[in-house]
Amino acid sequence: MTTPTLDAPDMTATLLEARGLTKHFPVHGAVRGAGRRVARRRGSGPVVHAVDDVSLALRAARVTAVVGESGSGKSTLARLLAGLITPTAGELLLDGRAMARSRRRRLDYAKTVQMVLQDPFASLNPIHDVHYHLSRPFKVHGLARSGADLDGKIAAVLERVALTPADAYLHKYPHELSGGQRQRVAIARALAVQPRVLLADEPVSMLDVSIRLGVLNLLADLRDSEQLAILYITHDIASARYLADTIIVMYAGQEVESGPAVHVTDTPAHPYTQLLLSAAPDPERVTAVTLRGAGAPPSAVAPPSGCRFRLRCPHAMPICAERVPPAFPAGDGHVSACWLLDAGPKSPAVTTRAGTPEPPAVSSCQLVRPITGEDAPDLGEER
Ligand SMILES: Nc1ncnc2c1ncn2[C@@H]1O[C@H](COP(=O)(O)OP(=O)(O)OP(=O)(O)O)[C@@H](O)[C@H]1O
Ligand code: SF4
Ligand SMILES: [Mg+2]
Repeated sequence: MTTPTLDAPDMTATLLEARGLTKHFPVHGAVRGAGRRVARRRGSGPVVHAVDDVSLALRAARVTAVVGESGSGKSTLARLLAGLITPTAGELLLDGRAMARSRRRRLDYAKTVQMVLQDPFASLNPIHDVHYHLSRPFKVHGLARSGADLDGKIAAVLERVALTPADAYLHKYPHELSGGQRQRVAIARALAVQPRVLLADEPVSMLDVSIRLGVLNLLADLRDSEQLAILYITHDIASARYLADTIIVMYAGQEVESGPAVHVTDTPAHPYTQLLLSAAPDPERVTAVTLRGAGAPPSAVAPPSGCRFRLRCPHAMPICAERVPPAFPAGDGHVSACWLLDAGPKSPAVTTRAGTPEPPAVSSCQLVRPITGEDAPDLGEER
C-alpha cells in the first residue's frame, strides 16, 4: 500500500520520523510440534498484524494524535516509536538519523523520546513516594550533581506540571494523590530528562471526565513552552481535535486517514473516520446515534484482502476487495486511503458544522462539532 503520509506544509523541524513501520507478533501455540519448529525457522507461522506500514513525522511544538478503536495498533505504534520493541520492518529516524544499536545511543534515544502510559496508578510504584519516583530519572541519566541539585530539579519539574508548592507533594505516595495528580507525576517523571518527544498513550482515558481537560491543557502548554513533539494516542476523536495539530486515524493496524486535525474532523473523507465522528458524544444531539456501518473489527491474524474496512463499509465496491487503497489527496494536506477518492476528491465526506474548537464545559468530547441529525453521513444500513 502507498501509505498515507503527512505532507501538510508544516515547516517546524521533524524530530522523530517513522517510515513504513510494521510490527507482526507471532501467534504462540497456533502451530504445534515439528510444524512449529519449521514455521519458527522459516518465520512463516501465523502472525498478528498489529501495525502495518505506518509512516509519520513528529514535529517540534506540534501534537499528532493517533485515533482508532481498541486493537487498531495504537499502543504497539507507541512502543515501536519508544524503541521498546523491534519493528518487523520499517525504520525510525531521530533528527534524521537511524536508531543505532550501541548502548550509549540507545540511552540517548530513551532520554529524548519519553513515554507516558494510560494508567498512572499502575505506572507508579505504590511503595515509593513522589520524591523517589522523580529522583530516578535524574540518577539514571546522571543529571544531578548533588543532593541539593537533585531536590531543586525535582521541585522545578513538579512546578512544570503545576503541582505546587512542590513540598506538598514530595512525600506523598501514589494512593494519596488524585488520578489527575498521579498522571501529572507520571508526566513530570517523563519531563525530568528533558525529552524532545513525548509519547502519551491514552493519558486521560482513565481519569475522571472533570480532570481530563486539565491534563490535556498541560500537554498543550508543554507543547508550546517546551517545543515538545507530542504523540497523543486516544480513541476519542473529539479530544484529538481539541489538542492535536494533526490527526492520524488507524484501523486494523493501518493508517486510513491523516491530515490537519480540523480538516480531518470537519471533512472526514474515510468512511471509518465518519463512523468515529458520528459516534463522538454530542451534548446537542437529541436523537441517539445509530452506528450504521458498525460491526466487528477484522481478524488481526488474517485481515481481509484489499481495504481492511470493507467488511464494515457500506460503500464497499469490488475493487475494495481486490486492491489495497493507496493514499488519495483529500485537500489541504489531508489524505485518505479509500477508493471512493480515486480520480479526485469525489468524497462521500460530509462537512460537519464548521466551527473553531471551544473549551468544553464538561467534557473534552464536546469540543468537536460532531456530525449530528441531518448532517450525519449516510453509512448505509446497520449491519
Ligand atoms: N505482545 C503482543 N503479542 C501478540 N499480540 C499483541 C501484542 N501486543 C499487541 N498485540 C496485538 O496487536 C494488536 C494491536 O494491539 P494494541 O495494543 O497496539 O492496540 P490498541 O489500539 O492500543 O488497543 P487499545 O485501544 O485497546 O489499547 C491487537 O490485536 C493485540 O492483541
Ligand atoms: S469504499 Fe472501499 S476503500 Fe473506501 S473505506 Fe469502503 S471498503 Fe474501504
Ligand atoms: Mg492501547
